[in-house]
Amino acid sequence: MRDVSLLITGADQLVTVPPPTGGGGKRGADLAELGIIENGALAADGERIVAVGTTGEIEATCGLRPRGERIDARGCVVLPGFVDPHTHVLFAGTREWEFEERLRGRSYMEIAAAGGGIRSSVRMFRKADDATLLSESLQRLDRMAAYGTTTVEIKTGYALDPEQELRALRLIGALGQQHALSIVPTYLGAHEVPDDYRDRVDDYVELLTERMIPEAAELGIARFCDVFCEKGVFDVPQSRRILQAGLGAGLRPKLHADEIEPFGGAELAAELGAVSADHLGRVSPAGIAALAEAGVVAVLLPGTLFSLAAKQYAPARAMIDAGVSVALATDCNPGSSMTDAMPWVIALACLQMQMTPAEAISAATYNAAAALGLEGEVGSLTPGYRADLQLLAAPSYARLPYHVGSSDLRDLVVGGRIRLRNAAPPALRG
Ligand code: NIG
Ligand code: FE
Repeated sequence: MRDVSLLITGADQLVTVPPPTGGGGKRGADLAELGIIENGALAADGERIVAVGTTGEIEATCGLRPRGERIDARGCVVLPGFVDPHTHVLFAGTREWEFEERLRGRSYMEIAAAGGGIRSSVRMFRKADDATLLSESLQRLDRMAAYGTTTVEIKTGYALDPEQELRALRLIGALGQQHALSIVPTYLGAHEVPDDYRDRVDDYVELLTERMIPEAAELGIARFCDVFCEKGVFDVPQSRRILQAGLGAGLRPKLHADEIEPFGGAELAAELGAVSADHLGRVSPAGIAALAEAGVVAVLLPGTLFSLAAKQYAPARAMIDAGVSVALATDCNPGSSMTDAMPWVIALACLQMQMTPAEAISAATYNAAAALGLEGEVGSLTPGYRADLQLLAAPSYARLPYHVGSSDLRDLVVGGRIRLRNAAPPALRG
């Protein structure tokens, strides 16, 4: 008998999301391979999963330590916690007025060019004190957890000057210390061109490559360097310089690519061996082929296109058919995607991008982890992986996209510790 600190038994479905045989993200038909165990059970010791199998198998081989915890998962689906690999959670203040402007017909890029958009969040960020930024962001992380997320990538990018971008990185580091969820920091000093550099963008690129990115890397908090590569923001040669500076300082590249028009962002991601290319609402066929060839994970953000009332979504089916590893994220931000809910993103993936529920779940767990270089660590219920998992009060994983805009989350386990228990039923009756 093996001693363990957490035993989960009797799950209607234990959705393991097995890793692919070849490494990297899950691709093609393997994306729909969820590795479901009926009447399933899982054992964890400390932070790690040590065994999965049927309830009979696990009960015959694993025993609970004296102060271990047990979860009866009858009537539940158990699946990996979501990994949300593209967010801008660290912001102060919101932009409802822009939402209303867009409803009146102004586009996101028109509002941005007129000084709104990211630059209005920059003004709010620079004025906000640390305590306000932390408390607003911690509340957003609480809501993400209530929707089943256990790992969150967070980008800087609402500061856009050398000192304030370092402050943003330190604050993201502090969020990781203060919250149970695992936080993955990304440096996005190249989120937008700040007000005082509008007519000399190359000077800002030089500031980024010569000073801001090396200083950010020096701090030792960020894992990735990102850029908003889009017409009217940073073009492809500027994005290349920015990401090469990141690479030179030890930060792997990520890109906001081909969101609004085909712009060569996917091709640049492939050229640089980026860990992911994100958005891709207007990726070209050549861009898709390049992502597949280079093994760059495509992080699709359908919540953003929905929130921008777009008629066209990223061509997920064409990407899957071409062998691209597709992942999903919320893009949680105050401008183009004010959401914290991965289940809603999964629903959009099914309803607007013709992904199956099984594919969308792999994309929100295993492949989302691969978009952060964390495959092998989170996103799968496999021995050796971190015990990050969620229990849904539902008979099947297909409940996730079917129950639109809601959450059936009952319990959440992060690093082997039960962080939410019986979270679902509100105490409003009687
Ligand atoms: O990923 N596209 C650029 N960045 C964000 C939007 C940020 C904002 O509008 O505040 C995005 O959609
Ligand atoms: Fe973004």
